[in-house]
Amino acid sequence: MGSSEEKVVAVIIVGGPTKGTRFRPVSFNTPKPLFPLAGQPMVHHPISACKRIPNLAQVFLIGFYEEREFALYVSSISNELRVPMRYLKEDKPHGSAGALYYFRDLIMEDDPSHIFLLNCDVCCSFPLPAMLDAHRSYGGMGTLLVIKVSAESANQFGELVADPVTKELLHYTEKPETFVSDLINCGVYVFTPEIFSAIQDVSTHREDRTNLQRVFSFDSLHSVTRTVPADFVRLDQDILSPLAGKRKLYTYETMDFWEQIKTPGMSLKCSALYLAQFRLTSPNLLASGDGTRSPTVIGDVYVHPSAKIHPTAKIGPDVSISANVRIAAGVRILNCIILDDVEIKENAVAMHAIVGWKSSLGKWSRVQAKGDYNAKLGITILGESVTVEDEVVVINSIVLPNKTLNVSVQDEIIL
Ligand code: GDD
Repeated sequence: MGSSEEKVVAVIIVGGPTKGTRFRPVSFNTPKPLFPLAGQPMVHHPISACKRIPNLAQVFLIGFYEEREFALYVSSISNELRVPMRYLKEDKPHGSAGALYYFRDLIMEDDPSHIFLLNCDVCCSFPLPAMLDAHRSYGGMGTLLVIKVSAESANQFGELVADPVTKELLHYTEKPETFVSDLINCGVYVFTPEIFSAIQDVSTHREDRTNLQRVFSFDSLHSVTRTVPADFVRLDQDILSPLAGKRKLYTYETMDFWEQIKTPGMSLKCSALYLAQFRLTSPNLLASGDGTRSPTVIGDVYVHPSAKIHPTAKIGPDVSISANVRIAAGVRILNCIILDDVEIKENAVAMHAIVGWKSSLGKWSRVQAKGDYNAKLGITILGESVTVEDEVVVINSIVLPNKTLNVSVQDEIIL
């Protein structure tokens, strides 16, 4: 156990507009970290998990989105959770470790004994206090949250080998081409401030190498300037791989749920996972209703207080309904994210779909998919301001913003 004086800070890396391209079309007008899962912005889930860390002094969000995109959210969530919080904007991407290093003086302002680093695009129960206890007992520089996944899917992540007894990280390879292990990096870490020296070592070596090559060969100058700059440091390849097996890094395995959120399909799956978690953590956020004065609610459903739903509608399971949505009589919605200001008219059906901001579904229309989260057209996505006219059926399709559909479509991307 640490002393009660020791402060902890948390850093959530949120990337920027040039990242998250697989998240289109729903990231066209909202930064991916603010896209709602279970009715709350994606980044809200790790932030509220940070609130459970003892002696939490401050939370930093680091990204290269414009400050104004996060200002409103950061001030409101900071007030709501009563945690000091700041958005720090990089002038350019510095990589996952470089981003942390770039703001080292601000991060160390409160003289924290530990620093959590969280990827914004992972969905899990964030067992941060348990990780911190484990980290203190190992006595290393850093502890990674890890999980076992299927051998077929492991190569999408950092694969690693850990000592079964000491839990030391023995070997680490980022997204290897040949199978190494089904134990993978979850993108959630806790470090001592020694991490800053480790990052500095990487950039210093890179600078030295660059200078050396400049001295020996003028020709190499061109290729050197095209390689990774000294201030771009990736946590996985540049820190975890070389420090594995050096008694610096340890692992903490979660037996709970964990997913990565790279595509809209996965956002729908993760929205459902967070709704299920609300049963344990925030049951007050889940809707209830039996079809008398409020609509029939089945399973886990979030409804924003400003949404208006007719009592004859049937909603759920796994549905999240955002602000100012209007849902008419006889509507059926199942496994969907319905975004702000959507209108769904009488007897329309939406299943396995994301319905974009200000879109409208006409009477007796159907917007549906097979609900395969990993397939390209496994869920149907309507971008912002899409109109589906009365009786039109949209199956396994992606519709870009501002389109009007007056004929039915299936397995199509409507540009
Ligand atoms: N601020 C900032 N600046 N954030 C960044 C930058 C940067 O330059 N580069 C990446 N990020 C953020 C992304 O927004 C994301 O939240 C996180 O860092 C990781 O993104 P990537 O570097 O693209 O890696 P990845 O998601 O493909 O894989 C990483 O995470 C997996 C877990 O989700 C790796 O660490 C894998 O090993 C790991 O399994």
